[in-house]
Amino acid sequence: MNENAIRLLMFEDNPGDVALIREQLSESGGFFEILSFDLLSQGLEFLATNNVDVVLLDLGLPDSQGLNTIEMVMAKNPSVPIIILTGLDDEKIAMEAVRRGAQDYLIKGSASIEILARIIHYSMERKNAEKELKLSIERFSRALSDTVKAMAMAVEIRDPYTAGHQRRGAGLARAIALEMRLDPRQIEGVQLACMIHDIGKISIPSEILSKPCLLSSLEISLIKVHPQVGYDILKEIDFPWPIAQAVLQHHERIDGSGYPEGLKNSDIILEARILAVADVVEAISSHRPYRPAFGLKEALSEIDRKQGILYDPVVVKSCLKLFQDKNYVF
Ligand SMILES: [Fe+2]
Repeated sequence: MNENAIRLLMFEDNPGDVALIREQLSESGGFFEILSFDLLSQGLEFLATNNVDVVLLDLGLPDSQGLNTIEMVMAKNPSVPIIILTGLDDEKIAMEAVRRGAQDYLIKGSASIEILARIIHYSMERKNAEKELKLSIERFSRALSDTVKAMAMAVEIRDPYTAGHQRRGAGLARAIALEMRLDPRQIEGVQLACMIHDIGKISIPSEILSKPCLLSSLEISLIKVHPQVGYDILKEIDFPWPIAQAVLQHHERIDGSGYPEGLKNSDIILEARILAVADVVEAISSHRPYRPAFGLKEALSEIDRKQGILYDPVVVKSCLKLFQDKNYVF
């Protein structure tokens, strides 16, 4: 067998249809290796452990009927292009098949040898382009999250007293988001926002940040500018997550008593409501230049008492569950 041959897997229970495709493709001048199964289950078993270049799929098999068959094939091998080959001439079903991930929809016996060969080649090229695009998006996302991590390090190097605060808070924020069953993209956004939520502290003199006693009211008002400064640093970066907004709102409280804008309830984005809880739990349980650590027990009791007043109760419940039932540790 020619090793450059295109390996076709046919899900087809009609031997006559398999023979026709075999004959057409052998006359097309290209190299094709054709394997066929008349049961979906057998074909899927083969697909799980063997490489194929294209799947030709009949939607009416003895053990599977209809468009769900597409998803079942994709679940076994998401990267193989699927061409539907069916006797059903129905435009609506054809559109739905493509929407569900099929590369093309062919009516049995309708395509000439040349068209069939071309459709097979195009489906492989399109699927490859899809894979490349997916890889580029993943590379781009990684580069963005590495940029956020580099920014977080810059803040921590300058401000050793809060070194680790953002990192530990980010771990907790991520765990809360997971516990709340947010979708993976949103979870990543919550974690990254938390990693740099105090980036605006870069504008505050180090003497204030590391002062070993309580701060004056002037110093406190200087510190309160950091969410806005953080937002100004980040707002021009076109992140796929609302990072600048979450940083701006991380000291907002749901009763409107927070800053900088005194936003209430759902006017504060979910990412910022999660960040607020993770930030406060980490801060209370850790040592600060002007006070010793109060400890985790005090931190959890604070969010428990103030849930529904300062903090989103759904977020607080998820956070408490992590520590009380799931042995979460910083
Ligand atoms: Fe902060």
